[in-house]
Amino acid sequence: MHCENKGENITELISEVVSHFPLAGRLVDVTPIVQGHINTTYRLVTEDENGESHSYALQTINKYVFKNPEDVMENICAVTAHLRKKIIEAGGDPDREALTVIFAKDGKSYYVDHRGEYWRIYHFIRGASTYDTVQNARHLYNAGYAFGRFQTLLADFPIHTLKHTIPDFHNTKKRMADFFAAVEKDECGRVKDVLPEIEFFRKRAEEASRLVDMQAMGLLPLRVTHNDTKYNNIMIDDATGEALCVIDLDTVMPGLAAYDYGDAIRFAASTAAEDETDLSKVTVDMHLFEQFTAGFVGATTGFLTKTELETLPWGARIITLELASRFLKDHIEGDKYFRIHRPNHNLDRARNQMKLVLEMEKRFDEMCAITAKYM
Ligand SMILES: Nc1ncnc2c1ncn2[C@@H]1O[C@H](COP(=O)(O)OP(=O)(O)O)[C@@H](O)[C@H]1O
Ligand SMILES: [Mg+2]
Repeated sequence: MHCENKGENITELISEVVSHFPLAGRLVDVTPIVQGHINTTYRLVTEDENGESHSYALQTINKYVFKNPEDVMENICAVTAHLRKKIIEAGGDPDREALTVIFAKDGKSYYVDHRGEYWRIYHFIRGASTYDTVQNARHLYNAGYAFGRFQTLLADFPIHTLKHTIPDFHNTKKRMADFFAAVEKDECGRVKDVLPEIEFFRKRAEEASRLVDMQAMGLLPLRVTHNDTKYNNIMIDDATGEALCVIDLDTVMPGLAAYDYGDAIRFAASTAAEDETDLSKVTVDMHLFEQFTAGFVGATTGFLTKTELETLPWGARIITLELASRFLKDHIEGDKYFRIHRPNHNLDRARNQMKLVLEMEKRFDEMCAITAKYM
């Protein structure tokens, strides 16, 4: 067992961390998993007295993103316990279809090391993999189904007990207000060069609030939402190719179902990368859109209300608009939040997502018709 990370030998640290958890047997191997983007994940293998091996996933929790790791873990523990119960009731395999938190010896769901870093351990889900890109339309159907099923299994979760670990995460009304405040301030003198872009958001400021307003009026309920509905957060069963389990639960929070759906569509049904500058390449692939929608609506019909299902296409439009405004805001503020790899990178990203909004607007009737077809 040997593991180097950023020039620092972390094998010793991991051994120390692991000693605080009741793992089966002794640690024999540690392998970093390079897939993730936010957390560092390691696969741990232990061997017990009978020579049997056991695997675990060890992660640090990103304190830059999550200011309150205890709340993050409280949400994850409550949600995974609920999922476990539901999966058992449905005759499924709770060890493979949900994350299982291993509690430390002191009863906590995490361990804090001497540097103040938070660590947690899950059972390792064997015989399954995550993929960064969607290979075919069938995968998108599976992804839609997996995220839909995730919400459905949590339909009777006591939502008021869930912490808002990132306040106002998808408060699109506030996001718009923050955007126009940055325009007003113009701290880098960049506003004069992006006036048509700003006009784009001015025209759409009202519709950005549409779902938030409906929620405030009691027309849309808060649900347990995942908030990072990327394809690489679904474990796919190696044997069957089917979606097995939704992972990466750090951002689980109360939210609107349409935003989980919408963010997945924004990401997975777009025909180009988020920073493609040839905007003629950026549109919505309606076949992929239909596949994801079929999976998601199929898994949530009977649970999501009619109004919620009808607002799904709005979720896609508004979440794309929100991200576009965040990219442009960051450009105006001097690229403080999203890391850039070239000049005007955030402006390129903003224009790309604005184009995607335009494409969704053009195809909106079709998007609504497809959604209705599966309701
Ligand atoms: N319980 C687990 N069992 C097996 N693999 C896991 C488990 N948890 C995470 N992984 C692997 O580690 C990768 C990163 O984990 P994830 O929780 O998605 O972190 P990030 O926030 O960095 O994306 C996943 O894509 C998956 O391949
Ligand atoms: Mg992930």
